[in-house]
Amino acid sequence: MCGIVGYVGPRPARDIIVPGLERLEYRGYDSAGIAVLEGDHIVTERRAGRIEALKGALNGRFTDATTGIGHTRWATHGPPTERNAHPHLGGKGEVAVVHNGIIENHASLRAELVAEGFEFRSDTDTEVLAHLVAALDDRPLAEAVREVMRRAEGALAVAVMRTDEPGVIVAARRGSPLVLGVGDGEAFVASDMPAILEHTREMVVVDDDCVAIVTADGVIVTDLDGAVVDAPSRTVDWDLEAAEKGGFDDFMLKEIHEQPTAIRDTLRGRLDPAGRVVLDELPLGGRAARSFDKVFVVACGTSYHAAMMAKYAIERWTRLPVEIDIASEFRYRDPVLDEHTLVVGISQSGETADTLAATRYAKAQGAFVVAVTNVVDSSIARDADAVLYTRSGPEIGVAATKTFIAQLVVLQLLALFLAQERGSISAGRIVGLVEAIDKLPGQVEEILGRANEFEALAEKWQDVNDFFFLGRGVSCATAAEGALKLKEISYARAEYYPAGEMKHGPIALIDDEVVVVGVIPQGDLHAKALANMEEMRARDASTLLVLTDGDTEGQELADHSILLPRTEELLSPVLGVVPLQLLSYWIAKGRGLDVDKPRNLAKTVTVE
Ligand code: F6R
Repeated sequence: MCGIVGYVGPRPARDIIVPGLERLEYRGYDSAGIAVLEGDHIVTERRAGRIEALKGALNGRFTDATTGIGHTRWATHGPPTERNAHPHLGGKGEVAVVHNGIIENHASLRAELVAEGFEFRSDTDTEVLAHLVAALDDRPLAEAVREVMRRAEGALAVAVMRTDEPGVIVAARRGSPLVLGVGDGEAFVASDMPAILEHTREMVVVDDDCVAIVTADGVIVTDLDGAVVDAPSRTVDWDLEAAEKGGFDDFMLKEIHEQPTAIRDTLRGRLDPAGRVVLDELPLGGRAARSFDKVFVVACGTSYHAAMMAKYAIERWTRLPVEIDIASEFRYRDPVLDEHTLVVGISQSGETADTLAATRYAKAQGAFVVAVTNVVDSSIARDADAVLYTRSGPEIGVAATKTFIAQLVVLQLLALFLAQERGSISAGRIVGLVEAIDKLPGQVEEILGRANEFEALAEKWQDVNDFFFLGRGVSCATAAEGALKLKEISYARAEYYPAGEMKHGPIALIDDEVVVVGVIPQGDLHAKALANMEEMRARDASTLLVLTDGDTEGQELADHSILLPRTEELLSPVLGVVPLQLLSYWIAKGRGLDVDKPRNLAKTVTVE
């Protein structure tokens, strides 16, 4: 996620762009920059770090220019430095581009442009767009951008200026959000409405594969062939706070709804059309992958629940033994590590002190450390031997949601990649799994479309204070995360157990005041898990079962059930966690609690 803002009209562009970027900081704050048209040339100012740093650098400059574009960055390709900050210039500086998204074929486009003599000045994927536009200097800017849209693969929302068309910004979109604002003798471009809401309430939401020509006289939207498309503006009546949350009541709910995008972005460029997993960032092809004889996965909290799933996936597909550890315990038990050990440290923030200490310890013992994190250049990313980034964008709600789902997905890819490189799985099986992974964003969307169902269920349990979340096999990970979400935001007692373990003690707590949430997708342990639910019902617990579509046997046993789309059993946590997040959310809301800032918690825990 990144934020873009553009302005064309009579006012100083910087006075609209910089405050607009501040409103988009929730989309990323690794670096910020602005480009404006001064006379017949483009001038830029860019800074690493937050927009505050850019404001300091501008210091009274750029006050005359009335056309400009700006950007706040959430780094994906290239570290968060000034060199990689947007806007990027194309050719000899006659083109400026800001971009939100990921260009999947940037490497081949870059090679082509280098061969044509274009000089690259950053490590970003975005810079290819700037040079591609510059290479098409014989065409009107809008046509050049259309051609670039045809050639670039992946997600992009862009705003582009060119010196020979002053007073024009061309904006385009595929996969990343883009809105246009229409004012009186002025027009705006933004990733999201809050950036421009104080200037206009007339908004045009741009559709995928559309290109907009934005001038002070208004906006014209075309398709990629140049045909004008109907893009009526609508009047938005949200206040600013509601707009920042995208119309949702809280960041947590917004972030739950962003999960399909988080999965899509995390998968982008990592599955090839032939059904192979491509993780170019891991130097673990072939022999390197075969050199490991065991794996440890270390993490805390929600990230530890992703580790629980990773254990099943890595063991199943690679046949390597996998141990998982709560990071704060790991180094104190003197684990056996050497250069044949792969250690995976998972931390969405990349700054959790316990996880950092664990991965540093593992590295010092000679293990190869792979970090899984959402924050480019975070401490864990810098320490590790290799990094697998999730691409969820900044998460503001304290309770992890979209970063968790992206961790699950990237860890599945890691398991399959290792198996593929070790030859421990057939090519045909990988193809089947890759197809199933590819369907996950759509399936999560389908579950989110039924959000009202979970709200109604939550209403029933507003006053219940005892919940058990049970699962077997990989569903232990889902159940554990469901329990953590509920307890941390609703303050209800919510415990997780492997369902088969209940009879060894915890069943003593079951009575008619307890709600048992059983996560029981179709799979090897389905019958056994249902039998465990019978044991709970026999002790008068109410049961909510999370089942797979068509599971009539499970439905008959449950007081309430949630049916989820069918997927591979090892992928089922990706779907199963979504209704549990929503259930927790609605229970907490029903109790009048602040779901974005639960008591006693911090988003990043930097103390041991
Ligand atoms: C729960 C939650 C925490 C974090 C934990 C680790 O919703 O957010 O349990 O998962 O503090 O944080 P990271 O992943 O940043 O290391």
